[in-house]
Amino acid sequence: MVRISMLIPSLWGMVASLFLLFPVHEEEAAPAKAPAAVEARNDTFTQKHPDQYNSWKATSEQSERHNALAEDPNMVILWAGYPFSRDYNKPRGHAFALTDVRETLRTGAPKNAEDGPLPMACWSYKSPDVARLIQQEGEDGYFKGKWARGGLEIVNDLDCADCHNTASPEFAQGKSVLTLSRPYAARGMASIGKSFEKAGRFDQQAMVCGQCHVEYYFSGKDKAVKLPWDNGTKVEDMEKYYDAIAFSDWTNSLSRAPMIKAQHPEYETWSAGIHGKNNVTCIDCHMPKVKNAKGKLYTDHKIGNPFDSYEQTCTNCHTQDKASMQGIMAERKAAIRSLKLKAEEQLVHAHFEAKAAWDAGATEAEMQPILTDIRHAQRRWDLAIASHGIHMHAPDEGLRMLGTSLDKAADARTKLVRLLATKGITQEVKLPDISTKEKAQQAIGLNMQQISAEKQDFLNTVVPQWDEQARTAGRLSQ
Ligand code: HEC
Ligand code: HEC
Ligand code: HEC
Ligand code: HEC
Repeated sequence: MVRISMLIPSLWGMVASLFLLFPVHEEEAAPAKAPAAVEARNDTFTQKHPDQYNSWKATSEQSERHNALAEDPNMVILWAGYPFSRDYNKPRGHAFALTDVRETLRTGAPKNAEDGPLPMACWSYKSPDVARLIQQEGEDGYFKGKWARGGLEIVNDLDCADCHNTASPEFAQGKSVLTLSRPYAARGMASIGKSFEKAGRFDQQAMVCGQCHVEYYFSGKDKAVKLPWDNGTKVEDMEKYYDAIAFSDWTNSLSRAPMIKAQHPEYETWSAGIHGKNNVTCIDCHMPKVKNAKGKLYTDHKIGNPFDSYEQTCTNCHTQDKASMQGIMAERKAAIRSLKLKAEEQLVHAHFEAKAAWDAGATEAEMQPILTDIRHAQRRWDLAIASHGIHMHAPDEGLRMLGTSLDKAADARTKLVRLLATKGITQEVKLPDISTKEKAQQAIGLNMQQISAEKQDFLNTVVPQWDEQARTAGRLSQ
């Protein structure tokens, strides 16, 4: 299936690494020198690196918003009591990262820098200004305070300085100098034995994406980002980690189970899949080498669906035509989706049955083992589905996670049936109408009209001031 031409990208990488690793190492070997400032204004690089800049800019063509809650209202119930139950869209182009974190109903409508609901850490994956602020304020300084404190500072779209050391002279000459711009990501990687400085070129490529496309949580008083990898990166390893520190993001408002929200663990699931195991990296598929109008090769920064550039990606290593590969992916996607919906159905029932048990006077002691099953079941479901593209990156691991989710949800429900019977409830616990997003949100008592109106007001009044002040201070060029 894999033909010999797959050697070509590897050779490319090896040649590249010979040229590129040296400058990186030289720079890091001189810690005494104060680091040059992170340049977060992406358009500074328009002239110097037009191919990379313009191809990045083209991610703004990937503008479609898929409203995931409308497609699947079950998720509203599973996330009851957590901001994700208000609003959750599938990911789109990198050019939208900042816009989307401002616009999502999850970040609320803060009125001033001290107003909640979310912490500073919620900016961490959205903009090169985060790297700039961490350099200026240190991690402790950066993480302090509420999300709205960062509004005036975090104003440039996700780009160059998120992945490159833009201050290095080699970068100015047109070479790629990759960097982990987030120290917490570097620590997380180091905790699984992957030091960025010592890593080979391919590892470094995957690690720059893995700065953001990973699982993480907000730890401690200042809600700093931490990767929960002390025991490893598998779902069971992370579960053990979270259980040992009794961590929960929120309490489900129906079942009162202590829940953990998964983020977007592409790095972990990719590692567990066949491509990750063969060190075929994110870049091989998502950032192919392409030619510009003058015939010069460059790296396409329009990160999106690799099937859109099949001839430059999959074809480097595989002989199958695009249609048959897409057929394989469609089958895998359908298999994941079907198991996902089965797990959700069990979980939705479990949350309502647990509520019925509390309402019937169940005690903490009686509920504890049931809530643990719900926590573990939903965590496994979430980790599988929150890793976008899992049908491509690691379909077997996705099915395995969902299978164990289904098992644990069934365990919870078996225990619930017995407990409910001891409270005199022998009839099936009926579900409210949750057939649409709106109905499901109503069922958990969300006042969406008010939430949306407050958000609109915030977007009309607060956000323009953020941009205006950043422009005046020179942090934003246009
Ligand atoms: C998401 C990470 C990421 C972002 C954001 C990013 N790059 Fe890159 N860039 C890469 C990777 C990966 C390569 C491939 C070479 C390598 O392995 O280092 C690369 C290569 C390059 C190169 C080397 C020449 C080439 O095309 O291979 C230049 C120059 C460059 N990028 C400039 C930029 C500029 C300018 C921006 C902002 C407009 C930018 N990059 C944004 C990851 C990124
Ligand atoms: C600084 C954080 C960050 C880095 C680094 C990063 N991403 Fe992303 N990526 C995001 C965010 C945030 C989104 C979602 C943007 C949105 O929906 O508003 C996203 C979206 C995507 C998408 C969906 C695009 C679409 O059109 O649907 C893909 C694919 C992707 N990233 C791949 C990568 C790859 C490959 C790398 C490494 C070369 C990478 N990302 C590096 C944060 C990052
Ligand atoms: C072997 C090729 C390959 C590798 C390696 C790979 N991806 Fe993907 N990825 C794909 C394909 C193909 C899709 C789209 C699948 C589909 O058609 O639904 C995708 C989808 C995604 C998505 C979801 C986009 C969306 O809009 O839902 C993200 C995010 C993503 N990849 C990030 C990454 C990151 C980060 C890495 C490395 C840690 C990586 N990918 C490694 C091929 C790859
Ligand atoms: C840099 C080389 C490389 C690229 C690019 C690449 N692959 Fe692969 N692919 C591999 C290797 C290596 C294997 C493992 C082969 C084996 O062990 O038999 C593999 C295995 C596969 C398999 C079979 C294993 C499984 O999951 O059942 C599929 C399907 C596949 N790749 C699809 C794709 C698609 C789709 C793309 C483009 C989005 C792609 N690959 C891009 C190298 C690559």
